[in-house]
Amino acid sequence: MGKSVRKAVIPAAGLGTRFLPATKAMPKEMLPVVDAPAIQYVVEEAVSAGLDDVLMITGRSKRALEDHFDSAPALERTLELKGDQARLDSVQHASGLGPIHYVRQGEPKGLGHAVLCGRQHVGDEPFAVLLGDDLIDERDELLTAMIDVQAKTGGSVIALIEVEPAQISAYGCADILAVEGEDYVRVNSLVEKPSVDEAPSNLAVIGRYVLHPAVFDVLEKTEPGRGGEIQLTDALQTLAAGEGEGSGVYGVVFRGRRYDTGDKLSYLKAVITLASERPEFGEDLKAWMKDFNG
Ligand code: G1P
Repeated sequence: MGKSVRKAVIPAAGLGTRFLPATKAMPKEMLPVVDAPAIQYVVEEAVSAGLDDVLMITGRSKRALEDHFDSAPALERTLELKGDQARLDSVQHASGLGPIHYVRQGEPKGLGHAVLCGRQHVGDEPFAVLLGDDLIDERDELLTAMIDVQAKTGGSVIALIEVEPAQISAYGCADILAVEGEDYVRVNSLVEKPSVDEAPSNLAVIGRYVLHPAVFDVLEKTEPGRGGEIQLTDALQTLAAGEGEGSGVYGVVFRGRRYDTGDKLSYLKAVITLASERPEFGEDLKAWMKDFNG
């Protein structure tokens, strides 16, 4: 019986260049999605999947992240004196999500390197990685299914979605094989951001992983790949092709609701979609959008 998954690693050291100038002095993870920063949704997802130990990989200019998940005594006292319980609850919710640990990635050397920065904290147990650019609807199950597949297979697990062929070059791409009688697939090979012609499929890797700790040794040896960065996809390709303890990569094909907040247009769509479901103003927003024609 393998060890169960308790720890989540959330890489949050990126420079957020796609959102400049908004992210000149503010972490992109703090951009609000309706009324909570994007990163809060990701931490909530980890906690609801039963992960009780969150490690954030941060860097320079990311202090707001630590402040957000910490208590804010002066603010809390003010809200308490005003009797504003709803806002007080919303403020305390973020600091009540459990202990969050931080380690800094000194240099922007890629997602694989960011995950490697978590090695000491994670140790020798399987762990989840959640990327902040992808939000998964809380009504749809993904991470818990991936954790189950990790326990069953003893390997590493990625999340895949089907995309239009033209979009595949924005993602890692997987060549897969169905596993008889199972609702997960086996990953034969992976390639980071291939061109349409090179892509082995239209199955794109999204930002949820449940990894065997063997990935750390592989990452140590992984040379910079696409964009001159140490790519997690390349390390997973090594594990997919390897044999023995900790090798083998499996995929869960996700067909639920996912909101991409990774670039300006997708981010705006994510905010509008989620806002339109809010009971307080969703109906008003939808009525307004119907009439809106720029
Ligand atoms: C990263 C991964 C890529 C994956 C994507 C999912 O890329 O390297 O394989 O498809 O996340 O969001 P990034 O979007 O950070 O460039």
